[in-house]
Amino acid sequence: MIDYFRRHLGAKLLLSYLAIIIVGVAVLIVASQFILPTSFNRHMSGMMGLSNGGMMGMGGNNSMSQLFVDFRSSFNEALTYAALAAMIVAVTLSLLFTRSVIAPVHAMSLATKRISEGHYDEHVEVDGADELAQLASYFNQMAEKLDQVEAMRRRLIGDVSHELRTPLTAIKGSMEGLMDGVLPATIETYQQIHAEADRLNRLVDDLQELSRVEARAYQLDIRTVDIFSLVKTVTKRLTPHAESKRISLDFELTPDLPPILADEDRAIQILTNLTGNALQYTPEGGSVTIIAKQINAEIQISVHDTGVGIPSEHLPHIFDRFYRVDKSRSRQGGGGSGIGLTITHALVEALGGRIWVESVGDGNGSTFTFTLPIVEKG
Ligand SMILES: Nc1ncnc2c1ncn2[C@@H]1O[C@H](COP(=O)(O)OP(=O)(O)OP(=O)(O)O)[C@@H](O)[C@H]1O
Ligand SMILES: [Mg+2]
Repeated sequence: MIDYFRRHLGAKLLLSYLAIIIVGVAVLIVASQFILPTSFNRHMSGMMGLSNGGMMGMGGNNSMSQLFVDFRSSFNEALTYAALAAMIVAVTLSLLFTRSVIAPVHAMSLATKRISEGHYDEHVEVDGADELAQLASYFNQMAEKLDQVEAMRRRLIGDVSHELRTPLTAIKGSMEGLMDGVLPATIETYQQIHAEADRLNRLVDDLQELSRVEARAYQLDIRTVDIFSLVKTVTKRLTPHAESKRISLDFELTPDLPPILADEDRAIQILTNLTGNALQYTPEGGSVTIIAKQINAEIQISVHDTGVGIPSEHLPHIFDRFYRVDKSRSRQGGGGSGIGLTITHALVEALGGRIWVESVGDGNGSTFTFTLPIVEKG
C-alpha cells in the first residue's frame, strides 16, 4: 500500500488533498469543542440581555443549554456534509489532475522507454500550451533528431560499404584474373591493382578526416591570416597540376584586403579542396580564378572555373556525403569519392563562415564561394 503511494503521483496528490481536509476538519472539531461553548454563551447572553432580560429568570439557563446542544449537533452535521463534499472534490480534482498531468508524463515515460529500446520513430501527443505541452514538444523534437541521426548512421554504413566494395571488387577481380592466367602478369596489371588499392587508401583517409572534422575532434588555431599569402600558398601548390592539365590558374584580389581571423592550415585546406575540384572538373585549355573581396565584416573568397559545371538539380546536394554529379566521370578523373566538399563545408562552418555554389549548368563552369570573418578593428 505504502509502496503504491510512493510510486504514483496521483495517489500522492489525493493523499495530500485528504490530509488538508482532515487537518481542516480536526481544527474545526477542536474549535467547536473548546471555543464554541464560551463563544456561544458570550454571544447569547449578550443578545438575551439586550432583547429579553426576563428569559434567564424563567428557566432561561436550561433552554440555553438545550439550544447549545441543538446548535452543536446542527454544526456537526454541517461539518460532516462539508467534509464529505470536500473529499468528493478532492477525489475529483486528483482524478482530473491525473488525467491532465500524469497521463502525458506517463505517455512520455513510455515513449522514452520505447526509444531506449531502439524505436526512434516514437512521438507523444502535444495537448494545450502549458509547460507539459512544451516538454512534450521538446521531447518530440529530441525524438525526431535521434531518428535522423539513426537514419544518417544507417545510410553512412550503407554508403561506406558500397564505396569500399567497388575498389575491393576490382582488386579481387584482377587478382583472380592473374591467378587463372586470364590477365597477363604485366606492369600495367600491377599498376591497375595498385591504383585501386591507392583509391581504397584515399577513401579510408578521407573518411577518417571527415569523422574528425564532423566530430570537431581537432584543435583550431585561430589567428590573423593574410589573404594574399593564403591565396599565394594554394596557387603555388597547385600550379604544377594546373600546368600539366594546361589550365590557367590565376587570382584577382581587391587591393588592401584586411586580414581574416582563421586557422591558417584549415583555410588552406578549404581553398585547396575547392581549387583542386575546379582543376579536376575543368577540361584542358580552361581557366580557374580565385577572387577575394570584402563584403561588410567578411571576406568572400570565390573559386571560379570554366569547367563542366553542375546541373541545377544537383546543386542542393553537392555538399552531401558521397554525392557526385556523375559517378563514372569522377572515377575516371582521378577517383573522387564525393567527400571533399562535405569536409570543406564542415571546415568553413567551424571557422564561422558560410559556403555556397553557383553554376549555370552543364559546360558553363561553376563558382564556389565561402566567407571568413575579418579581424575587427579596435
Ligand atoms: N568545380 C566543380 N565543377 C563541377 N563539378 C564539381 C565541381 N566541384 C565539385 N563538383 C561535383 O561535386 C561532386 C562532389 O565533389 P567532392 O569534392 O565532394 O567529391 P569528389 O571531388 O568527387 O571526390 P573527393 O572526395 O576526392 O574530393 C563531384 O563529384 C563533382 O561531381
Ligand atoms: Mg573533390
